[in-house]
Amino acid sequence: MTHELFPALTATDWDAWHRSPAAEERVVNAERCFAELAVFFSRTTPCREMVAVDLGCGTGAWTQLLVDWGITHTTGLDFSTVALKKAASRPVSSTPRYDLWDATTDPLPARNIDVITCRYLWEYLDPATEERLLDLIRQSLKPVMGALYLSFRTATTTDPFQRGLTDERIDRLSEGWLRQDRFTLGPSDGALYL
Ligand SMILES: C[S@@+](CC[C@H](N)C(=O)[O-])C[C@H]1O[C@@H](n2cnc3c(N)ncnc32)[C@H](O)[C@@H]1O
Repeated sequence: MTHELFPALTATDWDAWHRSPAAEERVVNAERCFAELAVFFSRTTPCREMVAVDLGCGTGAWTQLLVDWGITHTTGLDFSTVALKKAASRPVSSTPRYDLWDATTDPLPARNIDVITCRYLWEYLDPATEERLLDLIRQSLKPVMGALYLSFRTATTTDPFQRGLTDERIDRLSEGWLRQDRFTLGPSDGALYL
């Protein structure tokens, strides 16, 4: 099943999802994030000077972990105001910056970014947005050393909020990078470090 079979989801759709019990169930739990962090930090050495941007950050569970693990200059971007409000209200002393951002139209907020992360967003992008965003990411990363980390579902269901990336899309995403590391995170989840 390909993403063309699903309707495009708007910010309003995602706002409603972020208010629903489904989102509470889906919210990335710490244990799940820590397994993923082990993969992420096997490739990234965090330091204070690093700049990170988390695309489609949702309620910020992963974004906050990046800050907690030492990447203090982290910005989370999402087009759901409901998600961003929840993200910004986390009771922690050091928080990421959060900004409203739409992948279909908006630029990225910085140049020379050390690492861009993108958890479970790519599945929902249409082909034109996918191509545009990939160009933007390449232009915005630090030359040579800048990295893109993506995690995604591989299993597609009939639920439009639980899409999976096909191998063909994963292969296309991986083309032309200096690094192309692919990880299995679970039976229906994978990650790329590019
Ligand atoms: C499945 S959630 C993942 C959230 C978070 N990254 C995580 O791992 O928990 C997908 C997120 O992508 C956001 N999103 C979907 N399409 C988007 C777009 N065109 N621009 C910005 N954000 C988008 C949604 O609002 C939602 O918060």
